[in-house]
Amino acid sequence: MENLKNIRVLAIVALIMASTSVAPAQKRFDEQEMKVKIDSLLFIMTLEEKIGQLTLYTSDYDVTGPTIREGYKEDIKQGKVGAIFNAFGAEYTRMLQEMAVEETRLGIPLLFGYDVIHGHKTIFPIPLGESASWDLEAIEKSARIAAIEASAEGLHWTFAPMVDIARDPRWGRIAEGSGEDTYLTTEIALARVRGFQGDDLYDLSTVLACTKHFVGYGAGLAGRDYNTVDMSDRVLREVYLPPFKATVDAGVASFMTSFNEVDGVPATGSHYLLTEILRNEWGFEGFVVTDYTSINEMVPHGIVANEYEAGALAINAGVDMDMQGGVYQEHLAELVKKGEVEEEQINKAVRRILEMKYKLGLFEDPYRYSNVDREKEMVMTEEHLDAARDVARKSIVLLKNEAQTLPLKKDIKTLAVIGPLADNKKEMIGSWSAAGDWSKSVTLLEGIKAAVSPNTKILFAQGTNINDDATQGISEAVKTAKKADAIVLAIGEEALMSGEAASRASIDLPGKQLQLAQELHKTGKPVIVVLMSGRPLTINWLDENAPAILETWFLGTQAGHAIADVLFGDYNPSGKLPVTFPRSVGQIPLFYNNKNTGRPISDEKYTSKYLDIPNTPLYPFGYGLSYTYFTYSNLKLNKPQYTMDEQIDVTVTVTNSGDMKGEEVVQLYIRDLVGSVTRPVKELKAFEKIALAPGESQQVNFTLTKDNLAFYTRNMEFKAEPGDFKVFVGTNSEECLEADFKLLE
Ligand code: BGC
Repeated sequence: MENLKNIRVLAIVALIMASTSVAPAQKRFDEQEMKVKIDSLLFIMTLEEKIGQLTLYTSDYDVTGPTIREGYKEDIKQGKVGAIFNAFGAEYTRMLQEMAVEETRLGIPLLFGYDVIHGHKTIFPIPLGESASWDLEAIEKSARIAAIEASAEGLHWTFAPMVDIARDPRWGRIAEGSGEDTYLTTEIALARVRGFQGDDLYDLSTVLACTKHFVGYGAGLAGRDYNTVDMSDRVLREVYLPPFKATVDAGVASFMTSFNEVDGVPATGSHYLLTEILRNEWGFEGFVVTDYTSINEMVPHGIVANEYEAGALAINAGVDMDMQGGVYQEHLAELVKKGEVEEEQINKAVRRILEMKYKLGLFEDPYRYSNVDREKEMVMTEEHLDAARDVARKSIVLLKNEAQTLPLKKDIKTLAVIGPLADNKKEMIGSWSAAGDWSKSVTLLEGIKAAVSPNTKILFAQGTNINDDATQGISEAVKTAKKADAIVLAIGEEALMSGEAASRASIDLPGKQLQLAQELHKTGKPVIVVLMSGRPLTINWLDENAPAILETWFLGTQAGHAIADVLFGDYNPSGKLPVTFPRSVGQIPLFYNNKNTGRPISDEKYTSKYLDIPNTPLYPFGYGLSYTYFTYSNLKLNKPQYTMDEQIDVTVTVTNSGDMKGEEVVQLYIRDLVGSVTRPVKELKAFEKIALAPGESQQVNFTLTKDNLAFYTRNMEFKAEPGDFKVFVGTNSEECLEADFKLLE
């Protein structure tokens, strides 16, 4: 009997592998064929083998979380694991893949995942920085290159894009998203999914994307990582969910649950989020993975008494794959035996994972991504480095430029380059820099040296460290600065002061860097501040006293060249803030699309404001200067009122009224003046990045439909309501032209 069963298994396996070894010439993926294969596999898989497919473990190649499980290689050989993360490199992944394919009964290939967040080896700007480019094409290209490099190193799957809206800059992971706005985040999320997944998962240069963290992770109380999230369903649906939903519609392959609870239930155990919304409302067909040990963490959350119960809650809520916790491995079989989990639930999860393996072509050739030659050829190529420099310079935001301090002349006689981030390779690549090698990054000092004329003298002094109290280097820095015609001061945060588990209660410049800036200012030389940070910082003194400030985030491998391009005018800065810069942490959360309240801010006493600081932000959302000037005129709508089905055409003329060519992000916001529920004072609904020569004008056209005006009404219907609207078009969320229109029944 046992023998007969084995023969049957072998026959089916042979059939599955044989039919997959013939690659269809054109059409890479056949729904029917995939179904037959996966049905056959499910038919012969034991419960334990199925649970193996639902298990993801880290290798010891890299570490991204608190615990390393010993013995993952043994787990692979025993078929106890279906996917591995934190392992990359053609040789290493091939070696692990061989264990799965050759040593397990069914030889089902492993899926290799990794946090390829902003580049794999060629590191691009941190996502928040890249978002400041508002350049969807460039962002898509950056994700494309990340996919090319990652897949050439044996990877199949990236844990990106992160699409968490972040309205609190204390939260370190603000660095990893696209800032505070739902519309901008959605557009960028789509660009990244397109870049990672391309249009064919079978293509060797694409990887599965993973939209994360589902959901609300950015709304942790007080900006503390992993903290409690509590929000109305309306805010959840209107502000936090849209970027997730958009990626489902775009065919994203996977979703990652978040660590936090929402309305009292950890996201990893939320049937409402994972099944009712994600599967039933949105029709998501990919698979859901947890975040790192987040099933286990439901015990300390206090929603279950032990990991056995946690496993039941997760799988029944709709979690397909357990990242690193081992809970499914440990308890699922027993849960099925005791009838607390239906095997059908497990079959569904296994099917979703096997489908992705099939689409990647792994059943056809499990080693197709682990190719040493491709790896050598595709990684850190000239073309990738050029693209990284291009996105990096587009991500820089010019916050201040008094009296045209910038651009500097390349033949400036003597330039002092000062600060702990001026000649610092390590910090340039930012947090979550995947397989990035910081020793290959270009520092600001190197970038400047490569840009200036041969006669220019470049002096350097570090001044202080980033984050300690030492001040003894300041006098040397001042001495150096005194010999120069201008000072470039590179200050800010360490890369790992943002990212995961990196919340800050103060978002001031750390250490003694402000003192360094103040002492340099006393020399009377122009101090050009190059800020590097993973979040908005409170920089009131710099704003009042430094003649020029560039926010450069962490720009990646090519940081130094990109900043030099902007400092010396080879590139005219065009970045716009994807997030508000507050004047004080006391204002947080401070974001542009707030509500008006019944007592909007004014000079009167009983209004919604602070007594001790101005209530405006230091720099608003969408803000960013250029070396040239753009003037806006002629904002026009094609009609004064529209029926629900009519298209609203908005036009505006933008003129480059300066004397340098430049790019401008033209931003369109709306306000619904009266609704069945109150509406924000402004909402971004469209933008376009245009390039204009000096003196050139361009008419920019936008089209709105009722979908752009829709929101969750009092009865939670998603629709537009008739009434009066304002439309604003301008250079940032505060400086806009305005027009009105009416939407009819
Ligand atoms: C992070 C995820 C990441 C995972 C795997 C977790 O700690 O929250 O974003 O994908 O680790 O490295």
